[in-house]
Amino acid sequence: MSGDRASSPAGATSSSVAWRSAEPDDAAAVARAIDDWWPGKHMVHAVCPQLFEHLGDTCVLAEREGDLIGFLVGFVSQRMPGTGYVHYAGVRPDCRGLGIGRELYRRFSTAVAGRGCTRLYAETGAWNVESIAFHRRVGFTLQPGDAIVDGLPVHHDSAGVGFDFVVMVKPLVGEGP
Ligand SMILES: CC(C)(COP(=O)(O)OP(=O)(O)OC[C@H]1O[C@@H](n2cnc3c(N)ncnc32)[C@H](O)[C@@H]1OP(=O)(O)O)[C@@H](O)C(=O)NCCC(=O)NCCS
Repeated sequence: MSGDRASSPAGATSSSVAWRSAEPDDAAAVARAIDDWWPGKHMVHAVCPQLFEHLGDTCVLAEREGDLIGFLVGFVSQRMPGTGYVHYAGVRPDCRGLGIGRELYRRFSTAVAGRGCTRLYAETGAWNVESIAFHRRVGFTLQPGDAIVDGLPVHHDSAGVGFDFVVMVKPLVGEGP
């Protein structure tokens, strides 16, 4: 994936939004964003430049006038055949509700479908009910966990001690370059 300003739906994809894959130097901006934009727990430990260096070609960044307004860090899973793994995705708070999150996932889907993937696999904090609602809205379903907490199938400590996550999957149908 290279950079582009292709038109797409709604405000998300207006010509003022530039889309591109990630470079190692982008890690610092994503680390700042993940601290500022996320609800609740700090997630900065999830950002490391090596991810961007070795897997950045499937990551998607959205920028407006040179400022980062959205990102999806994801890659093809080596252990789950045919699976595109979404490590995390975020949209700057003042740019939410414009379709940018959906467009990040659409572009990632195209990138990993082009590498043979037939499904997406994503995780999010069990406390992050807005993220779970978003993922359901864009077609993910929740997978069984090791316990039900507040009605959600939770995987205890799956993202580190104290980080209980839910696992969500979505088939890729008709996606492709
Ligand atoms: C989750 C997040 C990425 C969504 O980004 P966004 O750009 O606001 O999402 P979109 O505008 O593309 O919304 C896509 C769809 O999801 C729905 N949606 C988005 N947020 C929602 C919410 N909190 N509750 C219910 N539905 C929601 C939208 O209504 C839209 O539906 P539609 O296209 O059918 O009208 C953004 O809220 C965010 O960055 N949150 C903080 C970081 C985070 O939690 N990331 C996910 C965990 S890795």
